Amino acid sequence: METVDVGVPIERHVGEDRVALTPEVVRRLTERGITVRVASQAGSKANFPDDDYIKVGASIVTQQQALGCNIVLTVRTPIDEDISNLKHGTLLIGMLNPFDKGNAVKLASAGLTAFALEAAPRTTRAQALDVLSSQANIAGYKATLIAAHHYPRFMPMLMTAAGTVKAARVLVLGAGVAGLQAIATAKRLGAIVEASDVRPAAKEQIESLGAKFLDVPFETDEEREAGLGSAGYARAMPQSWLARQAAMVHERAKQADIVITTALIPGRPAPTLIPVDTVAKMKGGSVIVDLAAGRGAEYQSHVGGNCPLTETDKVVVRYGVTIVGLSNLAAMMPTDASALYARNLLEFLKLIVTKEGTVNIDLDDDIVAATLLTRAGQVLRKF
Ligand code: NAI
Repeated sequence: METVDVGVPIERHVGEDRVALTPEVVRRLTERGITVRVASQAGSKANFPDDDYIKVGASIVTQQQALGCNIVLTVRTPIDEDISNLKHGTLLIGMLNPFDKGNAVKLASAGLTAFALEAAPRTTRAQALDVLSSQANIAGYKATLIAAHHYPRFMPMLMTAAGTVKAARVLVLGAGVAGLQAIATAKRLGAIVEASDVRPAAKEQIESLGAKFLDVPFETDEEREAGLGSAGYARAMPQSWLARQAAMVHERAKQADIVITTALIPGRPAPTLIPVDTVAKMKGGSVIVDLAAGRGAEYQSHVGGNCPLTETDKVVVRYGVTIVGLSNLAAMMPTDASALYARNLLEFLKLIVTKEGTVNIDLDDDIVAATLLTRAGQVLRKF
């Protein structure tokens, strides 16, 4: 059987500075006898120069040659021009947005065998290849740093000769991977942190980071059941619970200096947690960093995030509050983001490339089956 070659093209979406493979991971592949072809400059924005890839056995090629390999590894879905340069039957592996039906149809019509890594199950075995976790961890960290950057005061409490400075109050909504890292980073900067999540399991995790858990107790079986989520993810909560949560968030946001929102529900619009009237009541100079930017409900002809006033990839000031809607925070830390992502990809490749260097797609493997988005012209996921 034909042995594989692996291609790493340049990511061509604006602002996408990550690269799918780093020299560290390329070395692991070339040591296994796998041919790796990296498009010239593919790693340069993430600080991995072509020479570093050459040293570990990759060849530096054109974008078209990288796209011509049997396996093509990307960070995001390639732009249309690059898709048209992929051969029928190419294995495309990346963060391919598994909830976007139009995208899946496009990849299927290009005849690709496409794996969307975000669709991997949240199981112990899948942890090493969990791209949502590796990238959300970075986004959460960066969210706090960006908030600190826009906040016109100190984060920690300081006692100086010129007087005492109060610690910032940080409110984190959604305490999954990103939210927990945002909490941890804000605590390290000396802020007073409180956080909320629908999943009861989040309470212990929030408290173990030294933050206060804002509880909205469940009052009905319907609320309790929804709060348990499905497959580890949050589900849309009943209106009754959301109304009580909104009242609590409204009060806490008025007191907060910084609000970081990370609440997502897979395959659904992100919930509105900071409505316009809450922003209007927040303190002047306070900051919202909305990690759900571009994934929330529509508001006045744009798609918001956990806050309707959030504008994707913009920083706006509304009612004296700075609202940050940057949607690709992981790409703002491209070196570590690529390093972690490349290790995720290596773990995934181990599932579909044999020791002999041939492809074996085993649909009895739950990770392979869950991530396989398209094959032989068909979309394999249900929408
Ligand atoms: P996510 O990015 O899908 O959502 C972020 C957070 O928003 C979640 O914690 C969710 O519960 C919360 N949320 C949703 N609606 C909300 C609302 N109305 N109010 C407040 N919070 C709301 O989640 P992420 O970070 O991907 O994690 C999802 C789950 O998967 C978590 O339970 C996490 O611990 C678990 N996980 C398991 C892994 C494994 O076992 N391999 C790896 C990573 C995460």
